[in-house]
Amino acid sequence: MHDPEKATPWSGHRPVGKAALYDELAQELDGLLAGEPDAVATAANAAAAIYHALPALNWAGFYFLRGDELVLGPFQGRPACVRIPLGKGVCGTAAVQRRPVLVADVAAFPGHIACDTASRSELVVPLVVGEALLGVLDLDSPLVARFDAVDQAGCEQLATVIVRHLGGMVAR
Ligand code: SME
Repeated sequence: MHDPEKATPWSGHRPVGKAALYDELAQELDGLLAGEPDAVATAANAAAAIYHALPALNWAGFYFLRGDELVLGPFQGRPACVRIPLGKGVCGTAAVQRRPVLVADVAAFPGHIACDTASRSELVVPLVVGEALLGVLDLDSPLVARFDAVDQAGCEQLATVIVRHLGGMVAR
């Protein structure tokens, strides 16, 4: 349930330390997404919460698997590429390999798809339910090397919460 008065990581409350921020964000996100059966509403609020909670992002959002490509879902940031073939770009690579892909410098990643020229580093985490790939969570930053192993583990934690809420409802 959304409570605009509550101190949350997306309303400006920042616990000390990055791991603590992810712990609190995961917990608050779980509450925010609880009880809503609509996939668009759930993904939209998740993208907004993440975008406003994590510092130095210029894009945060989802691509969902539709056939053999990823299609843009709810996000925060500038308008983005709509369709990404599996295996292409950072998102398509994370989707095919079903593992997080952390890119410290997008200029050094062959095949990186530049949706926003401001993006300098990127972290993509797949959303997997059992054997099924739902899509990916994609974060972009205007800073080189914005993401590290703590961010990767933290975003995997967020992905687990998101999958728990989205898992049964994303139409494929
Ligand atoms: N850079 C991504 C494309 C999506 S945008 O960053 C929003 C990629 O290479 O897959």
